[in-house]
Amino acid sequence: MIPRLTIDLFLATADSRQSLAGLARHGALARCTLRGHDGGLAAAATHYAGAPTPQVVVVEDEGGDDLAARLDRLAEVCDPASRVLLIGGVNDIHVYRRLRDRGVSDYLPRPVSAEHVLEAIRALFHDAQAAPRGKTLAVWGARGGVGASTLAQNLAWAAGRHLREPVIYLDLDLAFGTSLLSFNLEAKQTAADALANPERLDEVLLERYLIEYDEHLRVLAAPADPGGGHAPGLDGVERLLDLARRLAALVVLDLPHQWCDWTRHLLTQADELALVATPDLPNLREVKTLRDILEPVRGQAAAARLVLNRVDAYRKTQLTAKDFAANAGLAPALTLPFDPLLFGDAANRGQMLGECAKTHRTAQALAQFAAQITGKAADTGKPAWSVAGVLQWLKA
Ligand SMILES: Nc1ncnc2c1ncn2[C@@H]1O[C@H](COP(=O)(O)OP(=O)(O)OP(=O)(O)O)[C@@H](O)[C@H]1O
Ligand SMILES: [Mg+2]
Repeated sequence: MIPRLTIDLFLATADSRQSLAGLARHGALARCTLRGHDGGLAAAATHYAGAPTPQVVVVEDEGGDDLAARLDRLAEVCDPASRVLLIGGVNDIHVYRRLRDRGVSDYLPRPVSAEHVLEAIRALFHDAQAAPRGKTLAVWGARGGVGASTLAQNLAWAAGRHLREPVIYLDLDLAFGTSLLSFNLEAKQTAADALANPERLDEVLLERYLIEYDEHLRVLAAPADPGGGHAPGLDGVERLLDLARRLAALVVLDLPHQWCDWTRHLLTQADELALVATPDLPNLREVKTLRDILEPVRGQAAAARLVLNRVDAYRKTQLTAKDFAANAGLAPALTLPFDPLLFGDAANRGQMLGECAKTHRTAQALAQFAAQITGKAADTGKPAWSVAGVLQWLKA
């Protein structure tokens, strides 16, 4: 079985389209997301000028004597971590070597079959350790009740829509987690079951515990049972996280407001950290304390992203964003107003803000923030300006 991957196919000839038509239904790709596009290298370069690149791009050389230039144009807009498999018409070891030098992961001479492509993808990720791991985002409330879980849930949903890749939301607040209510879901198994016997956990079992919320987002819910289950241990949480990262491009961790070995570990190790606070003195103190603990370990480059939430709930007495930032030594990356009608309505419906109030400014700010966190350019729906795009246009 090929690990979870998003694979784009740009096929330029009818023959290749016909030979690879069955690829999407192939059992070995059951975990992968496959997206087919018409056109070859030039079409791929134009497409990625305005859209995030997936882990694997299978692209066919449409012909012409400027192959190197077309490959360079693709390289300009392609994430360097993406692997490119090129289908072409020349079966020559020298061409193959030159293409490898230009960053092509593998070259498949025509005619190609589904088995050829599968073999090439398998070879890229044959080592379990080489299988791509999704990014992690830990969400932590500076104090209880500041809206950290609401933010984590909305970010997970918005990131899935933005990436169009699998995202997993892990509700690790085993005693008081709200995910079942917020997403209006029912769970047979929860994070408590997954963490009760972590040594038994593998990708297949975890897949069974996850509840599908939509095409992109899956949820490992918390049982919300203050009395039940064991307290999770660091090893179990690490194992759960490693498996989840193999199944998703982004894993969002909703952490309980509880300081212990595993919460501290996740706060220091997560790729991204969103720190949610309301603009008052106790929150300011907690943000400062946490910054002092985490900054030496995470470093400036991985500094927490501060989210000021419920702003203007206490308009006359709250700290201003400027004062908060100056004293906390951290500028807010996102500021969300106190809006009980908007948040209450979404909570009552069991929906995310982007579903029940898509055009609302707060929903759009959350979507933009989610796109920033994924580290992939926002898909504006139309190609962004690029040299490749303009050249393409002039040529046309
Ligand atoms: N900007 C906002 N305006 C109005 N209500 C909000 C806002 N953000 C969150 N809320 C509401 O605040 C309540 C608490 O939110 P949430 O459960 O996400 O907080 P939390 O920080 O995760 O709490 P806990 O410490 O219990 O885990 C929810 O009812 C949520 O809908
Ligand atoms: Mg919470």
